[in-house]
Amino acid sequence: MKTLSNQAVGTAHGKLILIGEHAAVYNEPAIAMPFLAAPVEVRVEQIQGDSQLMSSYYKGLVDTVPDNLLNLKTLIETVCVDLGKPSDSLSLSISSLIPPERGMGSSAAVATATVRALFAFFERSLEQETLIKYVDISEKIAHGNPSGLDARVTGSRQPLYFKKSCPYQPISLELDGYLVAADTGVKGQTRQAVEGVAQQLKQSYVRTKKLICHIGKLSEAAKLAIEEEQLRQLGALLTEAHACLKELNVSSDKLDLLVETALKHKALGAKLTGGGRGGCMIALADTAEQAQTIARELMKSGAVETWIHALGED
Ligand code: MEV
Repeated sequence: MKTLSNQAVGTAHGKLILIGEHAAVYNEPAIAMPFLAAPVEVRVEQIQGDSQLMSSYYKGLVDTVPDNLLNLKTLIETVCVDLGKPSDSLSLSISSLIPPERGMGSSAAVATATVRALFAFFERSLEQETLIKYVDISEKIAHGNPSGLDARVTGSRQPLYFKKSCPYQPISLELDGYLVAADTGVKGQTRQAVEGVAQQLKQSYVRTKKLICHIGKLSEAAKLAIEEEQLRQLGALLTEAHACLKELNVSSDKLDLLVETALKHKALGAKLTGGGRGGCMIALADTAEQAQTIARELMKSGAVETWIHALGED
């Protein structure tokens, strides 16, 4: 492969859903924050020959990507067609610190960085709405029926209060507390989890709808607790949301174990984050020391990686 000099870079980052996952699909509110510790970069370069994709899990022609990257193939082709540019002779190199399939928004972040890189490469300006339109296309292929939350937060540097039918609201999460995130090491299954909730809604409508609406109420209350800097109240709401998600069958034994471990070690609240059925959980702590203890205990209970994020800081 011969690389020509012309190149451009697009970036994005992972996300953590504080509260409201799954309910967000049904137009209930949710709160999510950018997870800047997990960045992704896509570099587009001019090459001779057919377009290529370089990533840690696939290296080869864009034309022959595996099924789980079909969203990216469609995205690249759609952007190029819309910009009136050929989609061959491109090399796209993805480098990502977002653990894939862990509910941290890896697919939306890679799509966001790809669109940014392609627009920069073709020297076109990119409006936020256009970016989101393309990432939504990619996310629909990747996840079936996404709420659009991941598409919005992986390209934003601010936490968002999100309700599908309304314009999203950037919010401040300036709290005197710490969020510990932990990876179960088990691949999450967002598509299957979302489909599972849809199935449950068909089978036991009243009970499932009640749970979904209740999560929405918890998200509203969480927004208020954040505005009033009520960290303990926020923690209690997170734990209650986890109980609802468990009832929706999107938790797992390992997620439940990590949530219990965090609570046992004085987390103010804990819950799974993202699609569930594997992936990650979060715990809220009031001091850095407490956050470190929780992170240590989570590792002892089987987490494969933890991150501590001081709320209110980048
Ligand atoms: C996935 O990160 C969050 C879900 O609520 C799905 C969605 O909102 O698209 C499970």
